[in-house]
Amino acid sequence: MKYKFYNEDCIHGAKKHIKDNTIDLIITDPPYGIDGDKLHKHYNRNEEHVIGGYVEVPAEEYEDFSAEWIKEAERILKPGGSIYIVSGYTNLFYILKALRQTSLKELNHIIWKYNFGVYTRLKYVSSHYHILYYVKPGKKHTFNTFARYDATEKNENGGSANYIDREDVWSINKEYKPGQKKNKNQLPTTLLKKMIAYSSNPGDLVCDMFLGSFSTAKVALKMGRQATGFELSENMYAHQNEAIKNIKFGSLLPEQKSKSMTLRNQGKRWSKADLEKLAIHYQILYKKHGTKKKSIELLCEEFGRGRFSIMNALKKVGI
Ligand SMILES: C[S@@+](CC[C@H](N)C(=O)[O-])C[C@H]1O[C@@H](n2cnc3c(N)ncnc32)[C@H](O)[C@@H]1O
Repeated sequence: MKYKFYNEDCIHGAKKHIKDNTIDLIITDPPYGIDGDKLHKHYNRNEEHVIGGYVEVPAEEYEDFSAEWIKEAERILKPGGSIYIVSGYTNLFYILKALRQTSLKELNHIIWKYNFGVYTRLKYVSSHYHILYYVKPGKKHTFNTFARYDATEKNENGGSANYIDREDVWSINKEYKPGQKKNKNQLPTTLLKKMIAYSSNPGDLVCDMFLGSFSTAKVALKMGRQATGFELSENMYAHQNEAIKNIKFGSLLPEQKSKSMTLRNQGKRWSKADLEKLAIHYQILYKKHGTKKKSIELLCEEFGRGRFSIMNALKKVGI
């Protein structure tokens, strides 16, 4: 299976179609129980390009609903599997309560800060969501610490890019797609890529209990993972189940591969021969490209090390 989606309620659908302990990663964004089907009025949004049919959960049912689908999520996750739940503030309490009624273990309570929150005058502007990152006990969970940045990479301010990327406050903007068909509350690709890269490997099975515009599934497939999930709305399901056929399986993988390729010698001691080779190759590259930056970039690829490792080694050989 590369993908299989169901136009069904996720609680009954999971019971019917998904066996115990079979899912590597769940990333999901449940309806918020705050009249999400009418949210455009609140945000003053133009709904012309929004695919209709969003199914909301009545506020009075939210507690039981959360407990039920989270119990199903726990059942279908493999031991060591991970789950990320995106939640607003209003009903966060019920999601946390439901999680605490399972065996799932909290690893992080992430704050996702986004741009353009709801404008307010007499209080602070609300501009964040909660992402609850839990794992099912029983086996070591997947966490690819260096999936995105190696230990020596620096950000523009000289801080460790890896450390900053792994802090539990994420500043990621929502996508603005003027004129394109979309779903309400569509999760940004950047956000999904991050969770998928850290918490799964190519070939793993990723499930979204509330597919909406199938954004989790689309990014997962592009990253060479398998995908499954549920969407109750007939209209949204029909539209996206067609659209997913155009997704290129694995198309985002080269991006990842080149990253891991550059790190294949990370942490290894430099041999004398390698240092000599580095000095010679640096001279050749510098002559050809004329900049230190470009030469170092190419040396990173050639030697399978990060920029700082190359720079330190160049210093050692007097460059
Ligand atoms: C917040 S949206 C998900 C958005 C999605 N993450 C995206 O990026 O497009 C929640 C979705 O859950 C769907 N939904 C509501 N109740 C459901 C249920 N019981 N089972 C499956 N889907 C449901 C809604 O129709 C809506 O599309």
